[in-house]
Parts: sequence; structure tokens; C-alpha cells
Amino acid sequence: MATAQRPSLDERRSAAAARLREFGQQHLLHFWDRLSDVARSSLLDEIDALPLEMLQRTFADQSAAPKPDPHSILPVDPVVMDRVDTERYVREGSAVIAANRVAAFTVAGGQGTRLGSDAPKGTFPATPILRKSLFEVFAESIGAARARWSARIPWLIMTSPLNHDATGRFFAAHDWFGLGQESVHLIVQGTLPSLDRAGRVLLATESAIALNPDGHGGAVRALDQSGWLNRLAREGIDTLSYFQVDNPLCKPVDALFIGLHHAHPDSSGEVSSKVVAKTSAAEKVGVFCQRGNSRFVMEYSNMPREMTEARDAEGALLHRAGSIAVHVFGVPFLQRLVREGHGLPLHRALKKVPCIDPETGTHRVPTEPNAFKLESFIFDTVPAARRALVAQTTRTEEFAPIKNAVGEDSPATSSALQSERAAQWLERCGVRIARDAATGRCLAEIELSPRTALDAAALATCATLPARIGAGERLTI
Ligand code: UD1
Repeated sequence: MATAQRPSLDERRSAAAARLREFGQQHLLHFWDRLSDVARSSLLDEIDALPLEMLQRTFADQSAAPKPDPHSILPVDPVVMDRVDTERYVREGSAVIAANRVAAFTVAGGQGTRLGSDAPKGTFPATPILRKSLFEVFAESIGAARARWSARIPWLIMTSPLNHDATGRFFAAHDWFGLGQESVHLIVQGTLPSLDRAGRVLLATESAIALNPDGHGGAVRALDQSGWLNRLAREGIDTLSYFQVDNPLCKPVDALFIGLHHAHPDSSGEVSSKVVAKTSAAEKVGVFCQRGNSRFVMEYSNMPREMTEARDAEGALLHRAGSIAVHVFGVPFLQRLVREGHGLPLHRALKKVPCIDPETGTHRVPTEPNAFKLESFIFDTVPAARRALVAQTTRTEEFAPIKNAVGEDSPATSSALQSERAAQWLERCGVRIARDAATGRCLAEIELSPRTALDAAALATCATLPARIGAGERLTI
């Protein structure tokens, strides 16, 4: 049998050059003559993988994108989680978990730029006293859920090419936090190129394109291309519990939420999302909105000011359903999106991207934003659902993100919120907690491991709770 001959480097170069010319990106081969054969081959691999048509379309669309019309957009009316028949939905959710139909899924491919660290964000020390990493907190929670429901609950973690190896090494160094390596799976997401203001693809070096992770929306493609989407279906797992790596208070496996996703009349079992009431108009969270029967998330940076600041008759923020980026996805729903070729839109953000001058090859480290990074967002799957459930939870119960080194959403604010949740659970168990008389602020630092208690009810069964916790005390339970 004749074997097809692999095209030579010159043949590949000619084909790439023709394709690049068509899209005005021929500068990518500018340094060809200076490159070794190895460098040439790797550059051609990157060029061949570029979705040039989509890049051109995205750039043109967004240059001329109309502003959303606030008058056609309504606020969503979420299902309030503590007003539903909790017992019933927890029972429904527990049955799904116990039947081994649930996998946990963390998106951890982002760069911790705002935290000022190059290490994978999941390795960041997050808890108030023991400084456990975000990954360790989730591992404890997933381990506790496995024990409670005697369920397998595989844990899938999406990494990016930039942090995949470091993430794997971190888990190995911590012996996979006792979960068993065979039950924790790292999946690498794809990349997209950065573009200059004229829409030209940037080079990081003479032989490498400036690439960045393709956004958490890349999860759909990563799950599909890694084979995991079909594997989950084959293993009878139809429920993917999705959360971001930056929130130590999130509940990786929440029976109530999973029960609502599967059994609430507002849910088609395709995608469900958690929101909290926004604290202020300026809070930087995406907001769930509604147009006709279709629900969607409007990112804070895209929301027109008149919508951000609009108030209802009672004076509360009109658009207040702030996304905490926790979702449950039906695996068949994600399979359908893939089958129907449902590509997620690309969003662009102006950022500082180190690159080389396309003419001279001089390396530039910009001090001002110079390039568009492109990303897709997982919440753009929401409008494809027949009925997307939006469930409102209590902020102190599940939202204490770590995004910035200082100020809001920082390690300090997150630690205070983690202590506060622990204090509230302990108070429900009859423990007296020292609080500031004027502000009500908890005056102790308390760290509660998910291994001890996954929720306040489980804490009540814990034999060794103190009677009171005084001001200035630091306690781990
Ligand atoms: C995000 C949401 C916002 C939501 C808020 C809640 C976006 C665009 N906005 O804001 O609507 O209200 O969280 O905290 O998402 N990630 C990847 N791969 C990537 C990019 C990101 O895995 O290519 C992961 C990150 O590791 C992180 C998460 O996605 O876990 C969020 O990314 P980030 O860009 O930091 O979003 P935020 O601006 O914090």
C-alpha cells in the first residue's frame, strides 16, 4: 500500500503563505529566512492551527458591535434557594449523586495576573489560618462528598498549556490530596492568538505566535477533544458540577442545587446557575438577564451604565442577579452543543501582551494595553438551553473569591468571609461567638475544614464543639 508523502517544509510554507495572504496575516512568515528547520516546523504547526476566518469575523463584528438595547432586556426572577422545599430537592439531588451520575469540574486555566503570581491559581494559600491551597480546600470537599454519598465523583480540572505541568506537579507533590490519582483528571484547554489594534496576529518570538488560553468557554471544546465528554456519558455521568478555581467557599457538590437542576419546573436539566444579589452597582460580576424567554449573562464590562444603575420600585438594583460562576451542566446538553457545532462567540479585551515588532523583531514589553486577547465564556452556553434555571443563594454561604492581591476580592476579604461562614454555622449549633457590638463583625478567626462538616447540619453532629469562641481567638475545626 502506498503511503502518503508528508509535504516538505517548503510545500507547507507555500500553502501557509497563501492562506495567510488571504486574511492579511502574511507578516507571520516575515522571519522565515532566519529560522532553523525545527523552528520553521513549529511555527507552521501554530499557523495551521489558527482559526483565521473566525478571527477575522470576530474582529470585524466587534469593531462594529451595536450596544445592547436596555429596553429589550429584563431582569431575571431567580428561584430563591432557601425558599424552596429544601428537603425534597436535597433528596432528589442526593439520589443523583449516590447513583454516580455526578462529576466535579473546576476551571483552573486562567492566569493569576491580578494576584501578581505566575503559579497556578489553585495553588494559592487561601484559608484563614492553615493557609491551605484552593485545590486542597476543593479536594477536602470532594472527598467529604464521596464519603457522604458513597459515590465516585470524579474530579476534572481544566488547566491551560501555561500551567498544566505545574498543576500536575503540585497535585503529585501532595499525593493528590488523598483522593487517588486515578480519580482526578487534568484536561488542557486550547489557545487563541492575541491581535494588535489592526487585527493582525502578534508574534511572541520570530517563530512563535503570542497565544493565550481560550477562556473558560474553551471548556466545551477541551471536554470534547480530550474524549471526556463521551467518556462521562459512557460512564453514566449526566451531571457536571462546574466551579471556578478562585472561590474557596463554593460547594463543589451541592445536593440542593443538583436537585433543583434535575427536578425544578423552571429547569430543563440543561444548565443551571447560581447567583447572589449584587451588593452595589459597581460590583464586578456578570449579571443574569432575560430577553423574551431567553436568559443570558451580561458581563459587567459590557453592561450600559443605565442598566447597571437602574433601580426597581423598592429602590433595589433592578439587574441584581450577580453570577458567582457556579453552574450545573447536563452532559447531554454539552454533547448537543458540540454535535450542532454551537461555537461560542469570542470576546476581546484590550491587554498588555509582550510581543516582537513584526518588522524588526525587537522585543517589546508594553507599559500600556497594546493588544486584544480573545476568549470565549462558558456562560454563553446559557441561551442555548430550553429553560435555564437561575438559583439565588446567600452570599456568605458560597461566595468569597480571591481575585486581587489587595482590596476587594482579595485574600484578606476572602479569609474574613470564610471565618464569618464558619461563625454562622457554629452559632446555628449553639456556639457563642464574640462579635463587635456595633458592626456585628466576627472577632475571632475560625477555619472550618470541609472534612469536618460539609454544611451547618453536619457540623451539628460534631462531638467536640466549644461552648464559646472569644475575641482574638484563632481556631481550626
Ligand atoms: C468571572 C466572570 C463573572 C463572574 C465572576 C464571579 C468572566 C468573564 N466573568 O469574572 O461573570 O461574575 O467570575 O467570580 O468569566 N479560566 C480558565 N481559562 C481561561 C480563563 C479563565 O480556566 O482561559 C478560569 C480561571 O482560572 C478562573 C475563572 O475561569 O477560575 C474566571 O476567570 P476570570 O477571567 O478571572 O473571571 P473574572 O473576571 O474573575
